[in-house]
Amino acid sequence: MSFMEITNLCVHYPIRGGFFNTVVDNVYAVDGVSMSFEKGKTYGLVGESGCGKSTTGKAIIGLEKVTAGSITYEGKDVTNERRKRGSSYNRDVQMIFQDSHSSMNPRKRVIDIIAEPIRNFTTMTPDEENRRVNELLAIVGMPEDAKYKYPHQFSGGQRQRLGIARAVACKPKLIIADEPVSALDLSVQAQVLNFMQDIQDEYGLSYLFISHDLGVVKHMCDDIAIMYRGRFVERGTSKDIYTNPQHIYTHRLLSAIPNIEPATRKERREERLRVEQLYREQQHKFYDKDGKVYPIRPLTETHYVAMLPTGEGE
Ligand SMILES: Nc1ncnc2c1ncn2[C@@H]1O[C@H](COP(=O)(O)OP(=O)(O)OP(=O)(O)O)[C@@H](O)[C@H]1O
Ligand SMILES: [Mg+2]
Repeated sequence: MSFMEITNLCVHYPIRGGFFNTVVDNVYAVDGVSMSFEKGKTYGLVGESGCGKSTTGKAIIGLEKVTAGSITYEGKDVTNERRKRGSSYNRDVQMIFQDSHSSMNPRKRVIDIIAEPIRNFTTMTPDEENRRVNELLAIVGMPEDAKYKYPHQFSGGQRQRLGIARAVACKPKLIIADEPVSALDLSVQAQVLNFMQDIQDEYGLSYLFISHDLGVVKHMCDDIAIMYRGRFVERGTSKDIYTNPQHIYTHRLLSAIPNIEPATRKERREERLRVEQLYREQQHKFYDKDGKVYPIRPLTETHYVAMLPTGEGE
């Protein structure tokens, strides 16, 4: 049973121009995506830069205005109530931002940043609050004296961990993690991913894990959605996506996963060239004449693909 449903979510930004500064067109940053979240599961949202991943995340937590579509949380339509002060949606759905530097107020000390959701949503005494902040810092592997410092006194990786501490402060149900490890070096990446998983087991959290790299999410996600120009081109279980990819764009992302084994490097390069050729030859089956992605259709109970039914568009 899902606790949250996103239906046909759209975020369009108007482009203004001309003498009267009227709306001449729109940026279709998110253009009709649907998904649902179940407790304790991890969802991947993958696609190239600019395809609309962060906008989707921000629209879900309520930092972007939704142009169309709806968000239902625990059976209630919350589309227009997401940012209401003190609402349970606000407490239960948190985000770890792609850019940890600009998502933290530079003039606030770490203790105030991490305790912000605690002050907003609970009634702890200063003592209890202090204990909770210490606990959170311990969870993300930071020393207690970090509390009295300012965000700029930390490295990118440390700030990302503080972002995680803030996100989990009030035991949320869903965390939208926007490229949480992309800015970190490989050894720290594994560390951060590990404690994200530990916290998940402890709290029964769900994640929407945003990444541009199918390699990173491979071992984490139960379900994955592949996004291209504001739309989903394919959606399915990890198994559907990695062992039975259907959309030509998914093939392309899969062939682009970096490879560290020299033994198979040549084969991988040939595979990439083959996929590129296929991409050129079969575009008409996967994109309409304006280059837009077709509506997504079910292939099996779990697997959805945006392509013409077989036989059409040949
Ligand atoms: N405030 C805005 N006004 C106009 N266009 C915007 C705005 N914010 C984002 N966009 C556009 O919406 C599209 C999607 O942006 P978004 O930040 O969601 O991409 P992304 O998938 O997160 O990319 P990246 O992997 O680089 O973070 C982009 O084409 C971007 O230029
Ligand atoms: Mg982004």
